[in-house]
Amino acid sequence: MKVDFAQIPSPSFVLHEELLKINLNILNLVQKEAGVEIICALKGFAFWDGFPLIGSYLSGAAASSLNEARLIHEKMGVKAHTYCPVYIEDEIKEIAGYSSHITFNSVSQHERLKEKFQQHNPDISFGLRINPEYSEVETEIYNPAQPGSRLGVTADKLNDTLPEGIEGLHFHVLCENDSYALERTLHETEKRFSHLIRQVKWLNMGGGHLITRDGYDVKHLVDLLKLFKGRYPNLEKIILEPGGAIGWQTGYLVATILDIIENKGVKTAMLDVSFAAHMPDCLEMPYKPKIIGAFDPAGNDNEHVYRMGGTTCLAGDYMGMGDYAFEVPLKVGDKVVFDDMIHYTMVKTTFFNGVKHPAIGVWRDGGFKLLRTFGYEDYKNKLS
Ligand SMILES: Cc1ncc(COP(=O)(O)O)c(C=O)c1O
Repeated sequence: MKVDFAQIPSPSFVLHEELLKINLNILNLVQKEAGVEIICALKGFAFWDGFPLIGSYLSGAAASSLNEARLIHEKMGVKAHTYCPVYIEDEIKEIAGYSSHITFNSVSQHERLKEKFQQHNPDISFGLRINPEYSEVETEIYNPAQPGSRLGVTADKLNDTLPEGIEGLHFHVLCENDSYALERTLHETEKRFSHLIRQVKWLNMGGGHLITRDGYDVKHLVDLLKLFKGRYPNLEKIILEPGGAIGWQTGYLVATILDIIENKGVKTAMLDVSFAAHMPDCLEMPYKPKIIGAFDPAGNDNEHVYRMGGTTCLAGDYMGMGDYAFEVPLKVGDKVVFDDMIHYTMVKTTFFNGVKHPAIGVWRDGGFKLLRTFGYEDYKNKLS
């Protein structure tokens, strides 16, 4: 299980395949015990070298764009459950071909586009995203139920019967939550939508279920889902589409210290990775990622405390949520390994400042396999 970071080029994202398997086994257990389908949301986990493995445990994948739907089709060999906040008319033919389920964000898009989708794939099952107007997510940018939200149809906009042709409902209001938050969410959703849930064949409970986090009460989730199924015998399928839970703590971003700068008592380790370009959630959420071998300086009387600085020239491209303490002084050439950098982080990188993009690799069968490097052409080809 132990990774030899000396073998790994810097900078690199590294997926630890054994850790991914641990997560997949937990998710598969939930599928089997609760009789639900768990699919992988690509927005949170798109490490496609792992898709054949994921496809052998989970029931498929969820797309939020044509590109994601196509990647699912090409690399997992299945049709996607697709939900886009808006569909682009020019893309419908292709999306239809790659999808088994299409969820609309509004009744009007369903009205306008259903025939076009059907024309290109008559087997598609249509769904509607509902907005339960309840969410426990405190960070507004991640809260789809905030007042005035553009995501999902609120109950007051729907009649007692669903628009003709809608076979499924979909809600997504959780983010890194536990099963007790889901229980309260289901309670609120049923208050507003139970008569409509009775009219459909499938219900997609979105993502945000951090089932693979230590301490998640898997038994409570299974019992909750079984009870829910019991209340709606009409439901042929209950679907959960987590992204974060698939890649939760399954790998690293390996970086190297290129310089150390001291200014007014602040020592900054200048890295070959960027918070802005390669770990944007650290600035957006914000949160402080764990560095292997480092500890929190707060309350500790130690000398070897460093700020982690990114490689772009953005003034705020450093870890502003707090410094890191180390047992020994850091020096140029040392590796710094950020933990839990596979879900979302890898998907959200950019070529901001044109800085070197981390390579992608996998720790498999006790060794490192380099899968992809990035260079000038990748930077240039995304611009014009
Ligand atoms: C519609 C939808 N489904 C699934 C997910 C995946 O959520 P998570 O990665 O938190 O499990 C998201 C995340 O934003 C989403 O918007």
